[in-house]
Amino acid sequence: MSHALMHPFSEVGKSEADYINIVSAKDSTLVDANGKTYLDGMASLWYCQVGHGRQELIEAITDQLNQLATYNIFDPFTNDRAREAADLIAAKSPLSDGRVFLGCSGSEAVDTALKLARMVQQRRGHGEKQIILRRTHGYHGTNFGGTTAQGLAPNREGWGDLVPHFIEVPNDNIEEASKIFAEHGDRIAAVISEPVQGAGGVWPPEDGYLQGLRKLCDQHGSLLIFDEVICGFGRTGSWFASQTFGVTPDLITFAKGVTSGYQPLSGVIVSSEVADALTEPGFLLRTGYTYSGHPCAAAAAVANINLIESDGLVDRANHIGKKTVEGFDALVADGVIKSYRGVGAIWAADVGRDSAEVKMAMLEKGVFCRGVGESIVWCPPLIMTDEEIGTFIEVLHAVLS
Ligand SMILES: Cc1ncc(COP(=O)(O)O)c(C=O)c1O
Repeated sequence: MSHALMHPFSEVGKSEADYINIVSAKDSTLVDANGKTYLDGMASLWYCQVGHGRQELIEAITDQLNQLATYNIFDPFTNDRAREAADLIAAKSPLSDGRVFLGCSGSEAVDTALKLARMVQQRRGHGEKQIILRRTHGYHGTNFGGTTAQGLAPNREGWGDLVPHFIEVPNDNIEEASKIFAEHGDRIAAVISEPVQGAGGVWPPEDGYLQGLRKLCDQHGSLLIFDEVICGFGRTGSWFASQTFGVTPDLITFAKGVTSGYQPLSGVIVSSEVADALTEPGFLLRTGYTYSGHPCAAAAAVANINLIESDGLVDRANHIGKKTVEGFDALVADGVIKSYRGVGAIWAADVGRDSAEVKMAMLEKGVFCRGVGESIVWCPPLIMTDEEIGTFIEVLHAVLS
């Protein structure tokens, strides 16, 4: 078997033959090369909101390929799909009169947001504001900015010097954040935070924490960046988690669920106030990607957002949450799990032991979830049926009993 392919977040020496080769998928079910089926309890990698194999998306992308397969949107060019996607994304967000910058990956969105935050501070006359506050457990992708912004220490190690001027604040402790603002407030450009921390193990914010960050940023002229790469597009039971938690940031990063993964697309939504600092005639925004505004990715976003709307998937996330809680309550009552946490359709169950083996045993029984520390993570497609949620709970019960 070929051995050229290097897998992300994987042992480089692992043989290609030891990977599970997924050959097809429909709705919430995956099929491997041996014909074995799996329930996709992670919506792939936290992104496939509308489920697999949706013809509406496939047709929209195919139509776009036939119309205009590719062209860039660097000045002087634009295209209809990119414009339409940006309008729709802004309209669904709490920054509806803001502007939208497009990229391909969450990592690109994060690094762009960090650059924009510093640029905006400079243009407002605060060149001294360069510090970015990150949170313990945070995950913000793997480019240099995002790597530095991560609150997961192992992911920051081994790459040499990272980006300067980052300070970590303990996860949910607003007093500690206040102390850091008291000491460095005049030099803090921005705070970056996932509203619900995802890859770090699914940690919803403590009550009032995000509001506290908003207040500190307002008091010190710092910008609040919500990294909604996982949370956006219905995952927490609203279009954006900013709406779920009632806190409006200055910048929002998004990716994943914006296209349900059918095409790679990401971006940053900036508030109109932030954008104002960038609109002076003659000022050139010297950042961007070859595939920013790619018409096929944008076509996928438009079709996907329309599908989330027509299928009522934002509400469906809350229903999935209700069913998940019912199942988890039963597992707690049976003494099978210790506790659980989550919101909408993103959850983690504390299984009280290393989750790696639990995850593999579940996979054996045809259910794919992620394991983080002692937690089993559940982030299904938003079309997951009640019966399939029941299967997940049964399999978790069987594996842990
Ligand atoms: C919150 C968050 N930000 C950024 C990223 C990076 O996205 P990507 O892997 O598309 O670069 C991720 C990926 O999981 C994420 O969860």
